[in-house]
Amino acid sequence: MRMQAYRIEPGQSLGGEIRVPGDKSISHRAVMLGSIARGRTTIAGFLESEDCLRTLGAFEQMGVARQNGARGELIIDGVGMHGLKVPAQALDLGNSGTGIRLMLGLLAGQGVEATLTGDDSLRQRPMERVAAPLRQMGAAIESQDGKAPVRVLGQRRLHGIRYELPVASAQIKSALLLAGLAAHGRTEVIAPAPTRDHTERMLKTMGVDVAVSEDGLRVSVDGPVELRPGDIRVPGDLSSAAFFIVGAAIGRGRELVIRNVGINPTRDGVLEILRLMGARFELENRSWLGAEPVADIRITPSRLQGIEIPEALVPLAIDELPIVFVAAAAASGRTVVSGAAELRVKESDRISAMARALGAVGVAVSETADGMIIDGGPIRGGAIESCGDHRIAMSFAIASLVSEQPISIGDTGPVATSFPGFVETAHGAGLRIGVTQV
Ligand code: S3P
Repeated sequence: MRMQAYRIEPGQSLGGEIRVPGDKSISHRAVMLGSIARGRTTIAGFLESEDCLRTLGAFEQMGVARQNGARGELIIDGVGMHGLKVPAQALDLGNSGTGIRLMLGLLAGQGVEATLTGDDSLRQRPMERVAAPLRQMGAAIESQDGKAPVRVLGQRRLHGIRYELPVASAQIKSALLLAGLAAHGRTEVIAPAPTRDHTERMLKTMGVDVAVSEDGLRVSVDGPVELRPGDIRVPGDLSSAAFFIVGAAIGRGRELVIRNVGINPTRDGVLEILRLMGARFELENRSWLGAEPVADIRITPSRLQGIEIPEALVPLAIDELPIVFVAAAAASGRTVVSGAAELRVKESDRISAMARALGAVGVAVSETADGMIIDGGPIRGGAIESCGDHRIAMSFAIASLVSEQPISIGDTGPVATSFPGFVETAHGAGLRIGVTQV
């Protein structure tokens, strides 16, 4: 397999106006819910990244037809509850934790027998956190020591349960709610802290009576229910925008505007963290795409200061912490991150991988069990490895905006799992990234 690498020269800056591709979490959910609704769902702004295309491919293997609409929308002909066909081969979800975990929940009650697997990284990640509560609902799931490949055995009658999540995870919550659509009785999930609520919002637009407590922590569905198909519009992904928000904030460029970005309050911790660090940005043209709030984000270069990141913001910014670490490295003073042990079970162990990579470009950093301490100062530059992790690769591309010397990043192919066109978007904002196939 050919490997890709980036090399970025220092002294560049961001400015102008860009758009980022569609939200990854919402794109996965749109395909999943559209597939089990009965009838046609149209998805505008679907993220055509490797992760989301894997989810789409899995449903095609189970008999869901798709086509492209005249304006580039993705059109899915949903087969209704229990309408999926048994796939002839294992469903390969590639690098996607969201794909495999939500799919496990969804398939548990659909009466199909399927094996779910993924790439080397995904096969290292914990699956029991989803499989164990699903078994309590009556599902039959076999795993390899708690890891993928995981096998869902068909024809089970599920029943609702009340489940307290051991960690603040939208993936576990969503997997149980998706199983709950087919289960008899009430499925209630209680989270220790807020997590992204895209599943709840989308289910409501598809006619499901989802009960959500005022603080958002307690969510329930009464099954079995049918989903109503319809139109879904996917906002730009705040997780992708975050790289450019930080780049524009720490760099020495001009104002940057990022259009049409999702600003769901259960996802926007990165904005609050950056505000606390002194970043200057405005949210303009606020509106809605279906059930999701969106805005344009206008960022002005600013001087950032290190902070102690409030632990309550960690689950709301979990995917953005790698780029927040780069912001901390470019800030003055010390940044302390704690309560982020979940980072160790993402696409890579993002605490140790980021600490190693920051150290390699000259940043004073120390790793803790559940976070990191970063002393801001000059970023020298040098060579780092992505550890097969898209967000680490993109974070260091942005770090080059303030580095003294070039930054080289090995194994950048995984960027395509979440942000196809990252290099082109960066170019549009003024950052040239040299790409080599090695
Ligand atoms: C996601 C939930 C988060 C996040 C992941 C996407 C989702 O994972 O890290 O990238 O779409 O539900 P956890 O639920 O494991 O925290």
